[in-house]
Amino acid sequence: MHVRLNAVHKYYESPAGPVKVLENVTLHIPSGSFVSLMGPSGSGKTTLLNLIGCLDSPTFGQVILEDRDVANANEATRERIRLRHIGFVFQNYNLLPTLTVFENVVLPMQLASLRRSERDERAVMLLKAVGLDQRANQPVNSLSGGQQQRVAIARALANLPRLILADEPSGNLDGHATKEVMQVLKSINDTQKVTVVLVTHDPAVAAYAEQVYYLEGGRLASG
Ligand SMILES: Nc1ncnc2c1ncn2[C@@H]1O[C@H](COP(=O)(O)OP(=O)(O)OP(=O)(O)O)[C@@H](O)[C@H]1O
Ligand SMILES: [Mg+2]
Repeated sequence: MHVRLNAVHKYYESPAGPVKVLENVTLHIPSGSFVSLMGPSGSGKTTLLNLIGCLDSPTFGQVILEDRDVANANEATRERIRLRHIGFVFQNYNLLPTLTVFENVVLPMQLASLRRSERDERAVMLLKAVGLDQRANQPVNSLSGGQQQRVAIARALANLPRLILADEPSGNLDGHATKEVMQVLKSINDTQKVTVVLVTHDPAVAAYAEQVYYLEGGRLASG
């Protein structure tokens, strides 16, 4: 999926008046590419990711996914795009801790009303891709952080999205687990041509991308 932001501005209202977070951000992310976004805490990285992910809307400007301006689409359309076409990976995994690995991966496919045989087959395929098929029936809270993040990646891929948005996916992981998680993301990008947009504070993680962008003072620069 290709992503284009045209002159995006984002302000939040506060008692002291509007707070400017993103100022005139224009960005093109080609289909199948892998880009990283860096910048100081509070610089608007999560805000930018949430705009692309249809979780939030800009104050002004366009957010174009393929050829559709999702910033100005209705909520039902945005919800459908989120479920069907975008996979999310978060710093704290956001898994359901008492469900099994398999159940967590199957969940988005149930929400998308996929047939049971197809969901089960796909969940096995995805768990193999992240190296966790042997763990399918364990509760996720019995896995390590790195393993849980790989379950989260399998879940993000459940409905075969064309875009993965990852917000500090290695923020809670040690060096070894970080490497495993990044290799999984890189390999999905390489083999399935899924576009990946990743936010990180770690330059070694950012370096997995073809292109690194920096946000500071509401402005975007490429490095
Ligand atoms: N819903 C909101 N209402 C008001 N202000 C907000 C809201 N969400 C974010 N902000 C403000 O917008 C700015 C950017 O926040 P954002 O979460 O995008 O930063 P970030 O770059 O992801 O930071 P971090 O690296 O700490 O995750 C911050 O000043 C934050 O306080
Ligand atoms: Mg953030």
